[in-house]
Amino acid sequence: MSDISQLSLVSPTISLLNKSSQKPIKIGIMASGSGTNFEAVAQAISDGKLNAEIMVLIYNNPQAQVRLRAEKWQIPTVLINHREYPQREELDRKIVITLQEYGVEWVVMAGWMRIVTQVLLDNFRDRVINIHPSLLPSFKGINAIEQALKAKVKIAGCTVHLVSLEVDSGQIIMQSAVPVLPNDTLETLHARIQTQEHLILPQAISLAINNS
Ligand code: GAR
Repeated sequence: MSDISQLSLVSPTISLLNKSSQKPIKIGIMASGSGTNFEAVAQAISDGKLNAEIMVLIYNNPQAQVRLRAEKWQIPTVLINHREYPQREELDRKIVITLQEYGVEWVVMAGWMRIVTQVLLDNFRDRVINIHPSLLPSFKGINAIEQALKAKVKIAGCTVHLVSLEVDSGQIIMQSAVPVLPNDTLETLHARIQTQEHLILPQAISLAINNS
């Protein structure tokens, strides 16, 4: 039986990779959860597929598994707990200071579940990247996969985009599509989408850097 998950996949075909003759781009990763996308970026760098260096992981949940992944890769981690910053701008100010301390040039939100403000965007103009589990502009905001299932779409996917003030609305860098199968649950569809996220996030980072 052919693997239907391959049939409607829009495979990113660009062989990108910012040239290894250039200095590695210093990136900071912001994440809130399990960190499989963090891992994909770290692995792509280690495999020589992305000419970058992760300077720091910023995470906002003390329990976030992503911290353990960063420690495994010996990447510095900084907990910035949003609960200690009642104003979004205050949180972002702390984030900016931390990113600057680590010499970060580009910011990657890899499962960062907070809305960011102009404070972050002003300090990293057109240099903040986000990954979102839908084919934007469909299903913005939280629970994107639930929204897709509820809408009974036949194709779902993920998008890597530049971050702008309006949530999930910045310039699209790369997308990948997967089929929604009849018996899909939140978990099975998320797993299928994540496989694609792990492929396109490192590629989209490279593409964005090359095009900047
Ligand atoms: C990813 O699926 C990402 O698309 C999503 O969070 C997950 C993080 O997974 N991001 C958003 O929903 C942002 N609105 P990970 O922690 O395993 O990388």
